Order: sequence, then C-alpha cells, then structure tokens
Amino acid sequence: MQTHIKAAVKYMKDIHAQDTTGHDIAHVKRVHHLAQTIAKSYPNANHYVIEMAALLHDTVDDKLVDPDLAYQILNTFLDDLNVTTTHQEGIRYIIQHMSFRQTKQVGKLQTIEAQIVQDADRLDALGAIGIARTFQFAGHFKEPMWTGEATKESLSHHAVDLDQLSPSAIKHFYEKLLLLKDLMNTPEAKEIATQRHQFLEQFLVQFFDEWEVSDL
Ligand code: ADP
Ligand code: NI
Repeated sequence: MQTHIKAAVKYMKDIHAQDTTGHDIAHVKRVHHLAQTIAKSYPNANHYVIEMAALLHDTVDDKLVDPDLAYQILNTFLDDLNVTTTHQEGIRYIIQHMSFRQTKQVGKLQTIEAQIVQDADRLDALGAIGIARTFQFAGHFKEPMWTGEATKESLSHHAVDLDQLSPSAIKHFYEKLLLLKDLMNTPEAKEIATQRHQFLEQFLVQFFDEWEVSDL
C-alpha cells in the first residue's frame, strides 16, 4: 500500500506543479494531512482509500482539465498499480462526488471515507489559506476582487440576489465559503471550521471598512 501512496504523490505532483488557481501541491498536501487527522477518530474507516482519494481528488477537476481524459488517465494509473476494483470504486466515488457544486444534487455523501475527504477539502477553503486561495482563483480567472455592487449589510442579511451579482472573490464568500461551516460531515471538522469561519467574518468586516472610498 505504501508504494501506492508514493505513486499517487508523484502522480499528483506532476499534475499540480505549475498551478496558480488555488490547487497547488501544498493544497493537496494539506487536504491529505487534514483527512488523516480527522480519520484518526474513525478507526473503522478505510484509511488507504482516504489517503488515495485525498491525494488524487483535484486531478480530475473540470475547472482545470478535460475530465473525460483525466479520468481515463487516472483509471490507467490505478489499473497499472493493481489497485483492486473495490478500492478503485471507493476512490472514484469520493473524487466524483465531493465538490460543492455536486452537494445540491447528491446530498450527504454515502461513505465515511468520502465524508472525511470532503471535510478536509472544505476546511482548506476556509481560514487564512481559504481567503488566499479565493483571491488567487479570482485573479487567475480574471475576476475582480470585488465590484462594490452591494453593501456588507445587504449581503449579510441575504437582501441581495447573488445571481444578479457579477463574479468576484467577495461574491464567492457569500455563495460558498460562509456556507461551508454548516455543511461539515464530521464533528471534528466542524470544530476546526467554526474557528476558520470566524476568521472569514473578521476579514470581511475589515475588507468592507477599507473598501469604502469617496466618489471620484
Ligand atoms: P476545491 O476543489 O479544492 O475545493 P475549488 O476548485 O472549488 O476547490 O476552488 C479552488 C479555490 O478557489 C477554493 O479556495 C475555492 O473556494 C475558490 N474558488 C472557487 N470558485 C471560485 C470563484 N468563482 N471565485 C473565487 N474563488 C473561487
Ligand atoms: Ni481540493
């Protein structure tokens, strides 16, 4: 199994090495580490599947690569390593279903392994690192940091239709980041998320304070 983990690390590093979208190697390392930390409270979970899925989870993201091709290459990689069909299915189930966009369609994930990796990935979207990744993502995809289209009060009180706002890093806080705390699967992740969520709130207060300038 150790050889599989080593091979997955190399496979992942080759894919994420040049990333400037918030999916760099350090993101995957943190997700792997957080998943293992949470998994300590779940001795009956399959820790091998958790590690493999954490390492491979962003190698097929349709925001970054052609997913059909990426899955073909991933399947060949897993076959060549002789990963059993059951383990392959466990790993693929996790990486296919863990994204935020899928949450509305698939609801709570069915395996404890998937729930743990999903929590780990979501924790890395919160706190200081989560903020940094969001601005890096926005810059990479040519989104502004903020547009000034709404006040903090109206956003906090859900008095704004988010669909009417143009894309920006700050919009992403309201459409996703601030919702994550309540979507955590495990109590272990929820505890970490609560502290990181507070940091986002604090950041937003200061961001909007500093944003205001007189009209030119
Ligand atoms: P992951 O799959 O690792 O959860 P995503 O692919 O959803 O990450 O996004 C990578 C990073 O960029 C995350 O921190 C995420 O919150 C942020 N992000 C995703 N979509 C946007 C967006 N439209 N604008 C700004 N940041 C975004
Ligand atoms: Ni990720």
